[in-house]
Amino acid sequence: MLKRQNFTITKAHRTAHNGHPSAVVWLCGLSGSGKSTIANTLEKRLFEMGNRTYVLDGDNTRMGLNKELGFSAVDRLENVRRVAEVAKLMADAGLIVIVSLITPYEEQRKMIREILLDERLLEVYVKCDLETCEQRDPKGLYKKARAGEIKHFTGISDPFEEPANADVVVDSARLDVNECVVTIASELSSLLKQ
Ligand code: ADX
Repeated sequence: MLKRQNFTITKAHRTAHNGHPSAVVWLCGLSGSGKSTIANTLEKRLFEMGNRTYVLDGDNTRMGLNKELGFSAVDRLENVRRVAEVAKLMADAGLIVIVSLITPYEEQRKMIREILLDERLLEVYVKCDLETCEQRDPKGLYKKARAGEIKHFTGISDPFEEPANADVVVDSARLDVNECVVTIASELSSLLKQ
């Protein structure tokens, strides 16, 4: 049996202390679509405006928190579940959390919305066609996936289900990083006022 413990200092205190509410900006999209670059520029912009921020990036969380997880559907679901729970804790701690994870399945995105039901959540689809991602191939992973060296690679041998319910879609194949960030920051700003 578990009983939730309540503490004197609440999220409301932290919001007042920080001067802004917390939120989660969840970036999903193919590998190479620009999620991490957008997360980086968005965080810098928010931080320099005096906000308390943190980025949770799939590559980084997979090196620690999620180090035993692979890329099967079950593992990807668990990967996203854990990061969503961490984002929830960080939001409760008062931060604006930017998450950068491929999040390829609708089932995962549904779970995120459930876990983060009581948080301000901005689901962003960083939309970039596979051809462009593959051309960019910043980590050389598409090349390896095409050569059969990486199994279950998103977009090649594993599906990416296009988000149907994203709050914001940024076309990172056509817009530059700053244009994407301005769009997201503007939507976030409206969300923070709610
Ligand atoms: S997710 O599908 O579970 O949301 P996540 O964003 O955490 O994925 O991890 C993706 C990162 O892992 C990619 O940026 C890439 O560097 C690396 N990676 C290694 N193998 C794969 C694979 N089979 N599919 C996708 N990404 C992979």
